[in-house]
Amino acid sequence: MIPRTDPRVNIQAPNAAFAAKLSTTYREFLDCMLRCLADTLRVLHINGERHVTQKLNLLGISGSLRAASYNTYLLHEAARCFGDCTFEMANIRLPLFDEDLEAEGIPADVITLHSQILAADAIIIATPEYNKNLSGSLKNALDWLSRVKPQPWAGKPVAIMSAAAGGTGGVRAQYSLRHCMTTFNPRILQAPEIMIAGAGKAFDDDGRLVDARTVSFLATQMDALKAEVARG
Ligand SMILES: Cc1cc2nc3c(=O)[nH]c(=O)nc-3n(C[C@H](O)[C@H](O)[C@H](O)COP(=O)(O)O)c2cc1C
Repeated sequence: MIPRTDPRVNIQAPNAAFAAKLSTTYREFLDCMLRCLADTLRVLHINGERHVTQKLNLLGISGSLRAASYNTYLLHEAARCFGDCTFEMANIRLPLFDEDLEAEGIPADVITLHSQILAADAIIIATPEYNKNLSGSLKNALDWLSRVKPQPWAGKPVAIMSAAAGGTGGVRAQYSLRHCMTTFNPRILQAPEIMIAGAGKAFDDDGRLVDARTVSFLATQMDALKAEVARG
């Protein structure tokens, strides 16, 4: 919450005569409106310093639709490493992109996803590797999103990760994902890269990463993501 003493949040009636004309109800209404506005402002520049005033909104997008997905587990682990934030998982169980369907109107779930991305301070994406590429579900979601204005990805801090059965941990899927996202101009972290190889053995029954070093790498990536958010 932004302190009420912040000059941009305080109501300053221009002069006493004007202030006297404002009814109490109207003043209360204005006060309420300004406090709502303040609550939506997350970053303030005070005396040249940047202050993040609220919990960050972190959005997770898993490229796998299956319930016990290692990539979904990985996102939850990443959110834990990120620390205090408002975390939500996106739903990318969307209809297959089809320009005829688009002509009937953008599906509600696409609109929801678009709004979540716009509202997010940072986004984490975990993609499985299907036949050396990102999942079709994730690509489909990106295709739908590319049809909704305003383009939601521009300037968004994004961290990419992957978990895969193979020994390369989904690196090819990650690079395909980076490639097809370049056109949307997000701020995708370059390092560190998180690839979980042999995913079947990397998580315990509760979906937690078993290797402490991997958790530490993930924490480093989340610190880098927070630093990217703080850069504004
Ligand atoms: C259609 C299909 C293709 C796959 N291709 C690859 C692959 O190219 N490389 C790889 O490491 N694993 C591959 N796998 C295995 C996945 O890495 C594994 O199923 C993984 O658990 C999927 O991610 P999830 O747990 O998040 O659903 C493939 C699996 C499927 C179903």
